[in-house]
Amino acid sequence: MRLSPAGGVRLAGIDLSQPLSSDQKDAIVAAFVAHQVVVFPEQSLSREQQFAFAANFGEVEAHGAHRPADKAGGKAGDKRYAVAHVMTNLDADGNPTVRLSPAANYHWHTDKPYRARPPLMTLLHAVELPPRGGDTEFANTALAYESLPDETRRRIAGLRAVFRPAFDPSGACADHPLVRTHPDTGRKSLYLGNHATHILGMAQAEGAALLGELLHHATQRDFVYVHRWRIGDLIMWDNRCLLHRAVANYDVLRDRRIMHRSVVRGTAPF
Ligand code: OGA
Ligand code: MN
Repeated sequence: MRLSPAGGVRLAGIDLSQPLSSDQKDAIVAAFVAHQVVVFPEQSLSREQQFAFAANFGEVEAHGAHRPADKAGGKAGDKRYAVAHVMTNLDADGNPTVRLSPAANYHWHTDKPYRARPPLMTLLHAVELPPRGGDTEFANTALAYESLPDETRRRIAGLRAVFRPAFDPSGACADHPLVRTHPDTGRKSLYLGNHATHILGMAQAEGAALLGELLHHATQRDFVYVHRWRIGDLIMWDNRCLLHRAVANYDVLRDRRIMHRSVVRGTAPF
């Protein structure tokens, strides 16, 4: 079932905790490429099972131990586990708080674009949700590119955007084509977002203004699918042709929101 004109499809009736048949896997990949966001309702997965599901689609990033529960079986910090990692608005004592990394998620972004080879896919599984709100929004940057005036498309052809990690401004940056081509579909899309600071070879302010204009264009409501989560939803999205953001439409200092997250590595944008 299609979820919006801007993308998204719902695939019910597949139990992701079990190994996939090759037909199931092909159907999921086809849905992912066609609709950019795939929603699997009513899933009940351990973090290990989520990692194993994600591994059907490429190399999954392993994460160090982040939370006390992770540390029970190994030395904190140096052991990496083949499990989905926990994204939550809770602090170490289980109390809602605003942390830097989730706070950055409230701005339109694509995941880890400051890497030379940014992730192709992110998977999120809703484990605990606020009574209402806590949505995630997705903006289709292929539609955004296709709807630009010819003159703008000519103006931005060949430009490269510079990306830096939000939490570490001194960390390594990468530059990528502002207009990237999807390796599976050949479709062009805008590649930008909160981590994009400027355009290579253009004055800082001019580049930032261009990125701001394009971001404004790309995130207009017609290009956006809003996901209203239900417990058990697992969704996967394509970081190569979408922007996304968490919506702070819940009480982040009172309500609990716990998601399990997996990230699949991609290839260098072109
Ligand atoms: C992410 C992300 C948004 C959300 O996991 O990369 O941006 O709504 N999440 O939690
Ligand atoms: Mn994100």
